[in-house]
Amino acid sequence: MKIIETDNYEEMSRLAADHVEAEVVSCPHLVLGLAAGSTPRRMYEFLGQGYRERGVSYRAVQGFNLDEYYGLSKEHPQSFYQYLTRYLAGGTDFQEENLQVLDALAPDIGKECREFEKKIELAGGIDLQILGLGNTGHIGFNEPDAAFPRHSHCVKLKEETVKANAKYFSGGEVPRYAMTMGVGTIMQARQIIMLVSGKEKAGILKKVLCGQVTPQVPASILQFHRECTVIADSEALSAYHQML
Ligand code: GLP
Repeated sequence: MKIIETDNYEEMSRLAADHVEAEVVSCPHLVLGLAAGSTPRRMYEFLGQGYRERGVSYRAVQGFNLDEYYGLSKEHPQSFYQYLTRYLAGGTDFQEENLQVLDALAPDIGKECREFEKKIELAGGIDLQILGLGNTGHIGFNEPDAAFPRHSHCVKLKEETVKANAKYFSGGEVPRYAMTMGVGTIMQARQIIMLVSGKEKAGILKKVLCGQVTPQVPASILQFHRECTVIADSEALSAYHQML
């Protein structure tokens, strides 16, 4: 795992956007795995800036949504589908029809997950997966568990995750289940970048970077990925530095 430290969130976002742009420029048909959440938001804004100012085009890019709250329609303002259409399709020429998502209203979840995996396979696999890091150590919505979930599936969210997400649902009901790419799906991506910002992620990031590789800290498996870069700001890396 390669670690790149930045001074702050802005620099982390800029660096991540530069990386994504470089990949898209060298391969216009890139297959991207797309994270939502507050961490990559500024990165997506920088991608929009690159499109407007330098004409970096996302027209031929295919995107796969990393995860989605179970039970939310695509139209729900807090769905990750809305997030990606707002931040990626809204800011660049990324084509909404090129965005594949796990349908969180699918009547047969197992079938929906299998078909999603099949679509990734047919696209030739994910070239570059963008990840955030959850407070529980989750990637996508793969929560701490007894084993690493291999394929896309539906998951019951940990109480800590539900609490962390409550800020997005202003008093409304916070989803307790989600659909997510499996850890195996994520690990099959050719390249991964994980963005981490802020001191509240410092403790968990330290475990991810140099703790035991265990399904109790799902992101720790990234230690075994051949092409994984963690781009984190100095606050997020503060606990890691203390132990060095
Ligand atoms: C969210 C999503 C992840 C995200 C992570 C961190 O709940 N499931 O895709 O990367 O948790 O979120 P944030 O960036 O808002 O801290």
